[in-house]
Amino acid sequence: MTSHILQKARDYEKESEKGIGKEQRPEFHLTARTGWMNDPNGFSRYDGKYHMFYQYHPYDCNWGPMHWGHAVSEDLLHWEHLPAALAPDEAYDKNGCFSGSAITLPDGRHLLMYTGVLQGKTPEGKPCDIQTQCLAAGDGTDYVKYEKNPVLEGSDLPEGCSHVDFRDPKLWQKADGSYCCIVGNRPADGSGQILLFSSPDGFSWKFKKVLIANQNRFGKMWECPDFFELDGKGVLLTSPQDMLAEGMEYRSGNGTLCLIGTYDEETDTFIPQQDQAIDYGIDFYAPQTVLAPDGRRIMIGWMQNWDTCSFRAENPAWFGQMSLPRELSVKEGRLWQKPVRELEDMRRNRVEYRDVLISGTQRLDGIQGRKLDMELTVRPADQETDCTKFEVRFAQKEPYYTSLSFYPAQSLLEFDRSFSGTRRAVLNQSRCLAETEGSELKLRIILDRFSAEVFINDGKQVMTATIYTDQEADGISFYANGKITMDVVKYDL
Ligand code: FRU
Repeated sequence: MTSHILQKARDYEKESEKGIGKEQRPEFHLTARTGWMNDPNGFSRYDGKYHMFYQYHPYDCNWGPMHWGHAVSEDLLHWEHLPAALAPDEAYDKNGCFSGSAITLPDGRHLLMYTGVLQGKTPEGKPCDIQTQCLAAGDGTDYVKYEKNPVLEGSDLPEGCSHVDFRDPKLWQKADGSYCCIVGNRPADGSGQILLFSSPDGFSWKFKKVLIANQNRFGKMWECPDFFELDGKGVLLTSPQDMLAEGMEYRSGNGTLCLIGTYDEETDTFIPQQDQAIDYGIDFYAPQTVLAPDGRRIMIGWMQNWDTCSFRAENPAWFGQMSLPRELSVKEGRLWQKPVRELEDMRRNRVEYRDVLISGTQRLDGIQGRKLDMELTVRPADQETDCTKFEVRFAQKEPYYTSLSFYPAQSLLEFDRSFSGTRRAVLNQSRCLAETEGSELKLRIILDRFSAEVFINDGKQVMTATIYTDQEADGISFYANGKITMDVVKYDL
């Protein structure tokens, strides 16, 4: 039975989406059916399709009581909205159905695990959330909440674990058929930690161990964890709140963290060896991964940051986008990301230039657009002439542009959307170290109406940001202070 609260959301979104034209949305990035979207949830394969759920407040473009929106896709790029899947309609989740994940049960049902939020009181009488883990099983469209919810609550946790910050379960099934999940939590030191739970059947759960404690090393509370093996390594992705910048890492406040290390499945021991930001741009948070049938580990993040939610279009009809799906790999102790190869099927109108000498400002015929896939390879023009700065501007029409500037002497790459038309003083610049391989810098820039994603040196780093510049601003120009030589291949998408 669909509750009154869920039915109301489903009726509302169906009516409201009629007012949003195709051109008002990105072409191949998922947006909320209507209203507000945050984290990806329940990213999974079910019944031959990719399912993506998301944190959803259909009634306006600001965060509110969390529902789960729902969409499906065959290629991760063309999404079809389905009716909202969950609403805050039970005693244990009446203040929100927070983030979670999904798997397929042996009986063919799709199992969602999410955080139920209920407003309660601290022992001192102050209002606070009580967060518990809950289940709902369904057929890919309609989901029934489990009668024994919540399946994990404060009393299941060891001493000292917060009952207030206990959220975002990520589920997986082990080779022996049993289930695991990890959940973000806050221990007594106010930092973050990831708790590991196990279950024989996906329904009855037990605390197993603290998989890893932050000990105030990387930000505070760790949100939206994901954990998997990739290329022989254990990989933990999480989104820490309140990060401190460290050199070129962790500069976006609410940031992202990837820990790569060894994982012993027998003893559930994860020993991190390397850490890095997942994305070096402005807008990327709470990513979640899925294993594709062909074995690829694919990640999608919320293309937004809690610190920059006031950076938005005027009078938006929706707010929040998902990032491009990215194929992950681990090489040289780092996480590499590439746009999913399905994107290549969308490429049209190839325009190519080889060995173009750039000195001063230059435009190239046929190189423009706001929905495109463009690869640049940049190298010094000769040994004698120094180039101190190379810049590409896009989404450009006087006085607007967004730029990527490269300073070879420092291997510094800077993204800047200060002149994209924003009237808000939020974070508009980001930087990363982009070492040139044999003095060649490779940039793959993907634009989709309201965003730019830059894959650096075949995906060693990525910079992601939203831009809301008027769509008429579709110019692209190149600049070198000195001389560089550049190859360009551009496709429309
Ligand atoms: C992360 C997050 C999650 C929570 C959800 C609420 O962006 O704060 O921890 O489940 O958003 O919408």
